[in-house]
Amino acid sequence: MRQSPPPRTYRVKSFGCQMNVYDGERMAELLADRGLSPAPEGQEADLVVLNTCHIREKAAEKVYSDIGRLRKEDGTRPLIAVAGCVAQAEGEEIMARAPAVSLVVGPQAYHRLPEMLDKAARGERATDTDMPADAKFAALPARRKAGPSAFLTVQEGCDKFCTYCVVPYTRGAEISRPFKDLVEEARRLAEAGAREITLLGQNVNAWSGEDAKGRAIGLDGLIRVLAGIPEIARIRYTTSHPNDMSDGLIAAHGEVGKLMPYLHLPVQSGSDRVLKAMNRSHTADSYLALLDRFRAARPDIALSGDFIVGFPGETEAEFEETLQLVDAVRYAAAFSFKYSPRPGTPAARMDNQVPAPVMDERLQRLQAALNRDQFAFNLASVGRSCEVLVERKGKYPGQWLGKSPWLQSVHFEGEAAIGDLVSVELTEAGPNSLHGRPLELAAV
Ligand code: SAH
Ligand code: SF4
Ligand code: F3S
Repeated sequence: MRQSPPPRTYRVKSFGCQMNVYDGERMAELLADRGLSPAPEGQEADLVVLNTCHIREKAAEKVYSDIGRLRKEDGTRPLIAVAGCVAQAEGEEIMARAPAVSLVVGPQAYHRLPEMLDKAARGERATDTDMPADAKFAALPARRKAGPSAFLTVQEGCDKFCTYCVVPYTRGAEISRPFKDLVEEARRLAEAGAREITLLGQNVNAWSGEDAKGRAIGLDGLIRVLAGIPEIARIRYTTSHPNDMSDGLIAAHGEVGKLMPYLHLPVQSGSDRVLKAMNRSHTADSYLALLDRFRAARPDIALSGDFIVGFPGETEAEFEETLQLVDAVRYAAAFSFKYSPRPGTPAARMDNQVPAPVMDERLQRLQAALNRDQFAFNLASVGRSCEVLVERKGKYPGQWLGKSPWLQSVHFEGEAAIGDLVSVELTEAGPNSLHGRPLELAAV
């Protein structure tokens, strides 16, 4: 490979989950620390980082087609780095198949991006898909910039090995970041302007650590400490696993005012046979019982979930059990997917793969039910007053967009600024958002 002048501008393109978005922000900070600047809008960067996702089909194909299309204004190719979960799973193939790629870096190794760039400057290609347990975070620069709503990865990796899922292979074993580092990063984010922090992890409720006095604590303990940071007005966490749920976390929803009334708890299926084949190790009933406990602790809690339709062998009757579970829960929001066989996972080798048209039809029926419930939840919010955290300007002059405590998008017109918490009355509901009216401040 030829030597090229060191890159001066960068762009990180993140696909996939919020943890990838967080990683993308941290890579951008690393590159900025090295003196690179973000590429201007509409102009290709000297260095493009494709921060990829491997969770469902066509992820790798998409990476190759993205690579093929990357060109700078003068027709030359930018320096291309492939990061994220496709890099972890298929790093070697990428290097072999795509000579345009200079760097391949896995999700646990991106703190070494600067050294890898030095190699690239010498005309060498570099791959790093090591999985050191904890080295990455310590090697990253301190946070300096944050929007009103910021992500903070507290836990990584997964030991659950659901039979359909690649995450345990791409992200490695479960690790919890140390308490002290998280409090420090949360403080930095608060100083940099964050009002809301979303704690992230593939199994975020498996987080464990020791507090400042050396006592063992779980996620609820961490949340209680972070709630003590004055600038932080809201705390959220995602994604939880039903089997790691503690009494303390449930109780925290009734006790910690800054913990938002929202729970994303994937269930995947309403059929116990399918759940078993998925290696989920919970049943439909145990999941429903868990949700009841959250509702008892925080009656207005909004519930959200993930679903897979068409897992190998799923019958019509089993799919209907998923619809029954949806009817029982009445989710405020949800994500639903067609099953996608992933290389190397046990489910990909199972018999009775469900034909695509059957999956399409089931997904449509499931999404109709989920959309119905989401709209009903929004309609039921009309008349409620709540605080909206302003995240950005709306489409029209004087309009603002933000989030309700229940994670609904709310727009309103009035005096505000990004990062404000504005009291509004919710006046109108659509399927995906609400309209609000700012409440007059009480006369003094
Ligand atoms: N750790 C989280 C999220 C994992 S990935 C959890 O356990 O819930 C996010 C969602 O993608 C999963 O909840 C699941 O619904 C979906 N998903 C994962 N693998 C999939 C596959 N092979 N096919 C279709 N959907 C999948
Ligand atoms: Fe994947 Fe299951 Fe782990 Fe979630 S819990 S990341 S679905 S293996
Ligand atoms: Fe995708 Fe990796 Fe997240 S596979 S969903 S980017 S953990």
